[in-house]
Amino acid sequence: MPDNSLTIVDNRTGREVTVPIVDGTIRATDLRELSVTDGDGGLLSYDPAFLNTANCRSAITYIDGDAGILRYRGYPIEQLAEQATFLETAYLLLEGELPTAAQLRAWEDEVRLHTYVHTNVTKFLEGFRYDAHPMGMLLGAVGALSTFYPDAKNIADPGNRRLQRVRLLAKVPTIAALAFRHSRGLPYVYPRNDLDYIGNFVNMTFEIGGRHEPNPVLQRALEILLILHADHEQNCSTSAVRGVGSSHVDPFSAVSAGIAALYGPLHGGANEAVLRMLDEIGETGNVPAFIEEVKGGGGRLMGFGHRVYKSYDPRATLVKRIADEVFEQTGLNPKLEIALELERIALEDEYFVSRKLYPNVDFYSGLIYQAMGYPTDYFTVLFALGRLPGWIAQWDEMLNDAEQKIARPRQVYVGAAERDVVPIADRG
Ligand code: ACO
Repeated sequence: MPDNSLTIVDNRTGREVTVPIVDGTIRATDLRELSVTDGDGGLLSYDPAFLNTANCRSAITYIDGDAGILRYRGYPIEQLAEQATFLETAYLLLEGELPTAAQLRAWEDEVRLHTYVHTNVTKFLEGFRYDAHPMGMLLGAVGALSTFYPDAKNIADPGNRRLQRVRLLAKVPTIAALAFRHSRGLPYVYPRNDLDYIGNFVNMTFEIGGRHEPNPVLQRALEILLILHADHEQNCSTSAVRGVGSSHVDPFSAVSAGIAALYGPLHGGANEAVLRMLDEIGETGNVPAFIEEVKGGGGRLMGFGHRVYKSYDPRATLVKRIADEVFEQTGLNPKLEIALELERIALEDEYFVSRKLYPNVDFYSGLIYQAMGYPTDYFTVLFALGRLPGWIAQWDEMLNDAEQKIARPRQVYVGAAERDVVPIADRG
């Protein structure tokens, strides 16, 4: 019997089956051999929310949740945050290697070429109400891009896929900035291709009357935050992009599904929820009572806990450092005091310690975005800008993976057995 195998005895039938173990996994389809009657399809594995199921083989991001490690293509996140630009990180995620200086220049030029959107996109955005949530606007407008680029349907052509990836990277910041201006009732500011990726985005959001004085510390802080968010292996939104993309729809539609998934408060919406929570707490004196309420089941401590990080979120450590740099520029935010007090108490409290609940990337990022001048409902849009390279790298990897098919989980049916429809007049 090979060492790398698992022997399962099915006590229903006494049958013994040996299945191979590869990379620490067994194939769920191997369980099909364990059947009781002919045609029952064999044994299924049941794994709600994919707690213990790998859905793909991926060479993009490595996470060790217990050790608090995050690497993109093998490079520690700490080194990328220190040394790389966002577009350089995007290149790494998409191409698999860090660019040379010449490759990076060419890549930046290529992205710059595509920053403008069709003017009808602005008309489309104008249709939204003045108070439309910018994530709703972003997911609608990115989905709508598929109608402007019908060639994007040709996903079988690697050259075409590359073009759409560049279009997405170039145009999503423009759309995000247009949504920002819309919600403030400000005239749209179009891309300035003499600026770098982050500088252009910041300018499109904050320029007034043709003027904007960039703050290099804040811009670099934003860039690092986007790098920290650039990929996180098979999280909810990335799984949405892969799942929707597995139907072979165009990448604009698949990415808009990712944006929709990110919108939720348990995922990217958490940074927004943290700020609302801090508002609700109001002052540091109310922190102990709030913690007790959470422990009693009256809500969650937003920005705490993570499905995979059970020691600490390495991104949270870096975000805290950025917070110090940003607040040095912008002055202290009273909400920061509440956040620090929440963290201090929670990290000592048995409830949080025993459940391995630590601050995640979202605990401080919202405070930083707010200090930069972005409104609360815009935070998740910034997260989406960061996560975009990851989504499209994972989408491309999925399409190149010969083992992948249209995503279609199985179910355990627990509903009614067959029954006859009773005429409506006879129904009690
Ligand atoms: N506050 C209080 N209790 C919590 C929290 C929290 N933030 N998170 C988990 N718990 C408790 C649960 O109630 C549960 O307790 P129990 O065992 O007594 O029932 C236990 O910890 C395990 O929680 P699960 O929900 O099983 O953990 P899961 O891995 O499914 O959830 C999640 C992870 C969704 C991130 C969760 O911790 C959470 O809701 N956190 C707050 C929202 C948040 O910050 N999300 C951002 C995630 S990071 C990101 O998307 C970038």
